[in-house]
Amino acid sequence: MRDLILTTKIAVYSYSELTAEYKKIVDAAKEATKRSYSPYSKFCVGAALQLDNGEILTGANQENAAFTAGTCAERSVIFYAGANYPGVPFRRLAVAAFTKGDFVKNPVSPCGHCRQAILEYETISGAPIEIVLCGRDEVYVLHSIKDLMPLSFCEF
Ligand code: THU
Repeated sequence: MRDLILTTKIAVYSYSELTAEYKKIVDAAKEATKRSYSPYSKFCVGAALQLDNGEILTGANQENAAFTAGTCAERSVIFYAGANYPGVPFRRLAVAAFTKGDFVKNPVSPCGHCRQAILEYETISGAPIEIVLCGRDEVYVLHSIKDLMPLSFCEF
């Protein structure tokens, strides 16, 4: 028997420490929370995806009376990108959430379905997708989606 110990490195920044490039994608994710349609949870999630060509696309969670028909902010933007920019790698993805009149204190992190979906795009492009998780005061930066899902399932 042996133990396998997995570690995750997260770079933690205050907003003021971020470079202009990171502030831009954090601001875009925060702005995107305004386009959330979340009458059921009232939890407004915004996602901003920077493509390899530098362009930033945004998405927001879209809920539905038939709950499972809704989708998360992250999948709304990555599927849009996959459908409209096929073959263009994703450079980084930022996520922010706003509820009860403020941005959430702790950096918000993608759900399991979104992690799996992001992993697929990282795998097909062959380059890591940096993950930027925005909290009210702090921003977490992870090198790759794999840092959020060790031992992930991938067929290829
Ligand atoms: N949600 C996201 O948009 N992204 C996540 O990573 C987690 C949760 C949405 C789904 C639902 O509309 C609301 O947040 C509450 O769960």
